Amino acid sequence: MNYKEALQHPVFKIISQSAKELQLDAYVIGGFVRDFILKRGTAKDIDVVAIGDGIKLAKQVAKNLHNKPKVQVFKTYGTAMLRHDDIEIEFVGARKESYTEDSRNPAVENGSLADDQNRRDFTINALALNLSEAHFGDLLDPFNGIQDLDDKIIRTPLDPDVTYSDDPLRMLRAIRFATQLHFTIEKQSLDAISRNSERIKIITNERIITEINKILETEKPSIGFLLLEQTGLLKYILPEITALKGIDEVEGQRHKDNFYHTLEVVDNIAENTDNLWLRWAALLHDIGKAPTKKFSKKVGWTFHAHEFEGSKMVYHLFKRLKMPLNDKMKFVQKMVFMSSRPIVLAQDIVTDSAVRRLVFDAGDYVEDLMTLCEADITTKNPKKFNKYHNNFKIVREKIDEVEARDHVRNFQPPISGEEIIATFNLKPSREIGIIKEAIKEAILEGEIPNEYEAAYQLMLEKGKKLGLTPAES
Ligand code: CTP
Repeated sequence: MNYKEALQHPVFKIISQSAKELQLDAYVIGGFVRDFILKRGTAKDIDVVAIGDGIKLAKQVAKNLHNKPKVQVFKTYGTAMLRHDDIEIEFVGARKESYTEDSRNPAVENGSLADDQNRRDFTINALALNLSEAHFGDLLDPFNGIQDLDDKIIRTPLDPDVTYSDDPLRMLRAIRFATQLHFTIEKQSLDAISRNSERIKIITNERIITEINKILETEKPSIGFLLLEQTGLLKYILPEITALKGIDEVEGQRHKDNFYHTLEVVDNIAENTDNLWLRWAALLHDIGKAPTKKFSKKVGWTFHAHEFEGSKMVYHLFKRLKMPLNDKMKFVQKMVFMSSRPIVLAQDIVTDSAVRRLVFDAGDYVEDLMTLCEADITTKNPKKFNKYHNNFKIVREKIDEVEARDHVRNFQPPISGEEIIATFNLKPSREIGIIKEAIKEAILEGEIPNEYEAAYQLMLEKGKKLGLTPAES
């Protein structure tokens, strides 16, 4: 492979020139090189390591670029960043690092390129391309990273216990890369992750969630979640999910393993949506099942009101993991809360009124809810599988049909409370609510169309039954 091809962008020549002016060596390293070799498209992040002062190099590069970009300096980390075109270039001086036992703050010393490569997370991320004029584009691969790329292996440059304990986030990164790239984590590394899993506790929730989101965004997230479970990491991050594991049996009655079921649902939904929050909803849709599980002789296993319980748990989970408590969280809550609703429809004859109620309750989220519920069909019985999917098709068609006719998606009552008050000359009273509810129910049941005239007549009728008389107009 001709690695010079990776360095075609004119900015590399400018970095090379700037390094020469400062009489230091510079290399492109990490993800940019890895992704070029894997042909994963042109990366927008470039990491440059300088054998010397990385911040100085960044400033020199900025000076030599025609548009003189601003250099952002992160003094504590000894790094600097600039943006050029739509590329983000990060500069760092080569380091020899050792981390303190209980924190991520490294004790830093200047080092050689080899020192710097040693302290990187994986052999495939330690590949470097020389930027010096004389050796422009030469590959430096001290740990056979190229071979590991070929063999699809995740391996650490140093003893994995050292690499993972230096920065425990790397345990999640290993699993994330394995999931994204369909690579295998080498056995020694995997064992080291299991041994060190508890150290994930010292990592901030923000960094953890960044990796979990990346796993969820892959085409087959179950690969990652199975590894997270297998190594013991998952119980520190999402105990609500590990709690779904296992099958209980009482008097010969078993329930399904909701952990594996959940992973199937997540993989299914990944085929149909890139919406990260809908994928979160799939991951969390059954979390209420662990705390609500009960066995009774009469009905066997039940998970009574698990959707309600689950939607409450979503809030606590988001809060604990410092995830946004905004409309995204509310969306996931709503999906979890409603996750069983369309299933009932899929098993039965699909009536217009049931569909109208579904659209009324789900509002703008109705399509996402359908996508979630279709992903939830994991039965291995092909007859049932086809029946449920066919019924969902009918439900989807009916949703469009009913919506075109009845407009219940963002339901606005055709008769307002004010109009009821004015018609019967009422003071605020419970009768208003009763009449409004009766009109809404009649529309959802299909007894009257969602139209003013029909609703007006019904209001008069209901009012009469309540002993009200219309005011003289
Ligand atoms: N790195 C590391 N340990 C970490 C994070 C990063 O050793 N905990 C090193 C790796 O050499 C990595 C480089 O820093 O390649 C850049 O890190 P980052 O930009 O976070 O990841 P990429 O490898 O570029 O991959 P991606 O963009 O997919 O996150």
